[in-house]
Amino acid sequence: MAMKHDVFEKLGLPEKPVMLAPLAGVSDIPFRLISTMHGADLCYVEMLSAAALIYKSERTFNMAKRHKDEKVLGVQVTGRNPQETAEAVMILDSMNFDTIDLNMGCPVRKVVKQGCGSAILKDPKRVYDTVALCRKYTSKPFSAKIRLGWDHDQLNVKEVTQAVLDGGADWITIHGRCRSDRYEQPVLMDKIIEVAESYQIPVIANGNILTPADGHMVNSQEPLSGMMVSRGSLGNPWLFNQIKCPQTKEPGIDEWFSTVKKHLAWFAETYQDQPHLNVCMRKHLLWYTSGWVGAKELRNRINQLKELAAMMTALEEFVSSLKAKHDSHLRRFDLHKRPMSDFSWDPKYDMDRVLDRGVGDDKMDSLTT
Ligand SMILES: Cc1cc2nc3c(=O)[nH]c(=O)nc-3n(C[C@H](O)[C@H](O)[C@H](O)COP(=O)(O)O)c2cc1C
Repeated sequence: MAMKHDVFEKLGLPEKPVMLAPLAGVSDIPFRLISTMHGADLCYVEMLSAAALIYKSERTFNMAKRHKDEKVLGVQVTGRNPQETAEAVMILDSMNFDTIDLNMGCPVRKVVKQGCGSAILKDPKRVYDTVALCRKYTSKPFSAKIRLGWDHDQLNVKEVTQAVLDGGADWITIHGRCRSDRYEQPVLMDKIIEVAESYQIPVIANGNILTPADGHMVNSQEPLSGMMVSRGSLGNPWLFNQIKCPQTKEPGIDEWFSTVKKHLAWFAETYQDQPHLNVCMRKHLLWYTSGWVGAKELRNRINQLKELAAMMTALEEFVSSLKAKHDSHLRRFDLHKRPMSDFSWDPKYDMDRVLDRGVGDDKMDSLTT
């Protein structure tokens, strides 16, 4: 039997929560609202840089905004050393977040070069020092997100988990790959399960949860305390409810379009004073349209557009023509294979290298480079 975790209860989460990962350049207010609407139990703000928080970067504080309708919200931070990270945690503790996560898994070169993200994994003592010091500055539910190790010669997930546990974190999220792995490498779910069986800390599994069947498999593993969905949710927020409620079907065209319109509306509301960011909506539309027959032309058209109204017109025309040509009961993926079941898919190629930058700290550059 899975243990009942007080910390999840305290956050108002179900026993085995299905979470949306912090996703640089993606998990902004509109995407979090959409994910919540479709069943995500807990969402996270994109990873923030501890240095940027301490130096009061306006961009970082903008990324850390919370929508009034977000009932529960997590934030993630990474720092260059325990002191800097703890100072940032103290700042985050005073802000409007329900839970704080430490990023110890980001593989991006410029992040790692500063000693942040997965660089921390190389030194379990530093993991312990960071978690233990941060723990002193927050009484909120507090976690760490790690990988299995730096590379396959340094698979130190057990030592790192022990350090996170000893440091006083409430749970740990494990992405079942090493820093050296790209998405082509499989996720070692057995290793995550082994850790969950061996340590007295709730373990959230992450990596390659791309289809409802992947989620059901994770749910069936008793030692695991929940899961964190990442790429699987891109253009496919229905995945959350499909995981939680196996009889949930793929959306039909009307249901699909109503979600896309809602996303556009929340995007417009969030960024109304920054129209140059409209192009950041394009990647979501590219992801949403995959799975529909005949969407290639639409995607090419959307890629040229800079106005949300024009994107909406293109979508309306697409939906009308799809309805005219096909049975109105057509569901997404009915005629196409699910593209996201290809686990080597890397979303960075759909993202804007400048505007979709993550982290919010100019010094750190993009998470998606
Ligand atoms: C666009 C993008 C941005 C990401 N940003 C973050 C982040 O800010 N913090 C984090 O911990 N992981 C981040 N990740 C990693 C994911 O959370 C996740 O660990 C990884 O994609 C493996 O899960 P998946 O195979 O289900 O996608 C990001 C991944 C992607 C694709």
